[in-house]
Amino acid sequence: MSPFRLTRTLPEDATGAALRADVLAGLTSTPKWLPPKWFYDARGSELFEEITALPEYYPTRAEREILVDRAGEIAAATGARTLVELGSGSSEKTRILLDALTGLRGYVPVDVSESALTQAGQALVSERPELRVHALIADFTGGLTLPETPGPRLVAFLGGTLGNLLPGERAAFLAAVRALLSPGDALLLGTDLVKDEGVLVRAYDDAAGVTAAFNKNVLSVINRELEADFAPAAFEHVALWNAEREWIEMRLRSRTAQTVKVQALDLAVDFADGEELRTEVSAKFRQEGVRTELGAAGLELAHWWTDGEDRFALSLSVAR
Ligand code: SAH
Ligand code: AVI
Repeated sequence: MSPFRLTRTLPEDATGAALRADVLAGLTSTPKWLPPKWFYDARGSELFEEITALPEYYPTRAEREILVDRAGEIAAATGARTLVELGSGSSEKTRILLDALTGLRGYVPVDVSESALTQAGQALVSERPELRVHALIADFTGGLTLPETPGPRLVAFLGGTLGNLLPGERAAFLAAVRALLSPGDALLLGTDLVKDEGVLVRAYDDAAGVTAAFNKNVLSVINRELEADFAPAAFEHVALWNAEREWIEMRLRSRTAQTVKVQALDLAVDFADGEELRTEVSAKFRQEGVRTELGAAGLELAHWWTDGEDRFALSLSVAR
């Protein structure tokens, strides 16, 4: 079996320090907010996988359809010998790319979720003994250093996760991705598209309540990691479409006036009855916006592919 390496690029306590800083900043702000990367402990990663199979959550199926249709073109256009995947999660759809990229030597999945990386990496090396997998536990917004691997390099950022960054964060992220690439290397980017509000809201407020459980999971993460006493049942899951910003917002609305203690921060947080805490934005895109954002980072849009219902787009851009 080929080697599976798992590297932590952050010191052991860096995740805890970052969580403390984010919780302190977010819960003492008006309005309150938390960054979405804290959803993804082992339970959160499992819940996300359940979301991808929900009838209302179309992005995963739509992106898979495009990958199946276009993987051959992606392989021919990039000739990639190394595939780096940011926010790789279960690497489930990536298998379509791995099958098509016949010159591939190595796969570098990058994720904050150690459980997702370990499960996906171990499964991949046992299925594909020829593939070198070097997984990185790392924050893709925080100055990535990649292992030395042969080019051409293809960076994949699938699932629409770009939309979970705020506009300023997106610009910084795309510039940092460009800095990982040599001229001629490529970025394969999945972006969910602006569409009917009802379809969008149902995708983030499913009938079975899986997205609600995923949203509330961030409270369990803070309870466990920072000795807090959030009662998840005292919060209601909210998903709404912000038409001006063209993004879905997920929030947690306090069902009552309450005070939550976060012992590790020596912090007491007051919530008014009905007060909302924003836990995620999920921006939806249009082709011209994606082209402009990529261009500003030094990436030239070369291909734009959508699924049969124009719900989701996969773009291939090339480092200038
Ligand atoms: N790419 C997969 C998973 C998407 S879920 C798919 O398309 O289905 C988003 C993934 O990004 C999760 O696995 C989560 O742990 C990871 N993630 C979120 N924020 C991150 C960050 N700042 N740095 C690294 N990984 C992150
Ligand atoms: C990972 N990301 C693209 C998902 C999304 O659709 O924004 C996360 C998610 N949030 C709620 N459901 C899924």
